[in-house]
Amino acid sequence: MIGLSTLFGIAALLAGVSAGNPFFIVQHGTATFTTRVDPIINPGTISTHVHTVVGSSSFRNEYTYENNRAGKCTTANVIEDKSNYWAPQLYRKHDNGTFELVRMNRVNTSGPDEEVHEFPEGFKMLAGSSKRSTYDDNDYTNKAISYTCLDYSGPGKPDTHGFPEYSCPQDLRANLFFPNCWDGVNNWLEGSKHVSYPASGGHDSGGPCPATHPKRLMSLFYEFHFTDNYEYTLGARVWANGDDVGYSAHGDFTNGWPTGLFPKVFEAGSSCDVGFSIEDCPVLEPIFTHSGGGTCSPDNPSVIIDEEVGESGLLTALPGNNPLWSINGAPAASNSTATSSSSSAPGASSTSQTSAAPTSSGPSAIVNPIGAIQSPAPVSSSSVSVIGDVHLSPAPTQDASAGHCKAKKRRLAAQF
Ligand SMILES: *[C@@H]1O[C@H](CO)[C@@H](O)[C@H](O)[C@H]1NC(C)=O
Ligand SMILES: *[C@@H]1O[C@H](CO)[C@@H](O)[C@H](O)[C@H]1NC(C)=O
Ligand SMILES: *[C@@H]1O[C@H](CO)[C@@H](O)[C@H](O)[C@H]1NC(C)=O
Repeated sequence: MIGLSTLFGIAALLAGVSAGNPFFIVQHGTATFTTRVDPIINPGTISTHVHTVVGSSSFRNEYTYENNRAGKCTTANVIEDKSNYWAPQLYRKHDNGTFELVRMNRVNTSGPDEEVHEFPEGFKMLAGSSKRSTYDDNDYTNKAISYTCLDYSGPGKPDTHGFPEYSCPQDLRANLFFPNCWDGVNNWLEGSKHVSYPASGGHDSGGPCPATHPKRLMSLFYEFHFTDNYEYTLGARVWANGDDVGYSAHGDFTNGWPTGLFPKVFEAGSSCDVGFSIEDCPVLEPIFTHSGGGTCSPDNPSVIIDEEVGESGLLTALPGNNPLWSINGAPAASNSTATSSSSSAPGASSTSQTSAAPTSSGPSAIVNPIGAIQSPAPVSSSSVSVIGDVHLSPAPTQDASAGHCKAKKRRLAAQF
């Protein structure tokens, strides 16, 4: 069965913070859409590459909170989760040049807090960039995207930021950690600049938010599992956008959670620190299906682009005719990153990360990444509710095992 699970939580990020903040994993059934649609990046039109999408059945090429909420069903096992979650589709290139759609097996997601705000109505954001062809270890927007090669036959291998150069018999897992600091005003800014990673401590930490993005959001983390039990061949893994190196993995989120639910979850505290056992969280139990998520058909199948994406056989070209990057070069905007600060100023893409890096740079080093683009419509104050009152210790930790890295999980058909 195809499936996906999403994991949400407020985890104790720092030593000294009591354990027991809410943390739960939402699981999803079959991906409802595998098509060239992306309401964040390409609203109203056809996307440049194929995505695999779960969540609300009302997904279409325009996002509105109301439309998401109106979905007749959701793949999630928490029936009120009418959000949509998507990532690029992965393909496998054969020696003869054909492309085979690679099934995504599952995903995990998660989130931390201090004064944590719930995702406002209409809120959307990105992690990673579909244009990035390089990797900068000092840039949190880059570090937040990685791969874990699951191979239970030997010692664990370190995570990589491009595709690993060996096969992963128990799945190739793409890890996409979303920014958890918000400007507190905008539901969206071009390039996802309304959100940012912490100023220090790590991309996935409860480190302090930069002055430009002072409001803490839940962290959202996807772990997409793709079948990868094939003999390794260099360049055979190809994202739907043509990236055969791997730096452009990215995730998209459009909020469809009911307003007011998360504050209750946070109030519930440790009783909602339940992982997969959502039935143990009194706030979520009434809307929990007690299953691993189900199938859900598109409300309007015509949103699916009428083209073959590889679900019924090999393709001779990637949908959209996207060329392979290694042969043709990455797209011009390859250096921009979706969640970084301004990409127009030299070095700006790593600005927030430079300030975020645990260096001795003082606050003056924090460049306002949203200075020129403050205008987009603010969310109504009524839709911005404080989700909790869990305060983090001022000292950030770099301990990645602190438990803040919750994830969301998605599961698709095993093989084809
Ligand atoms: C290309 O290679 C794949 C995998 O070996 C094979 O299944 C397919 O039939 C080949 N297609 C052509 C046109 O040779
Ligand atoms: C990316 O940035 C590097 C260094 O700033 C530059 O040399 C390179 O040309 C850029 N690549 C693209 C595709 O813009
Ligand atoms: C993601 O889900 C898997 C189960 O599929 C679990 O083993 C793993 O611990 C989860 N990751 C996180 C960060 O919670």
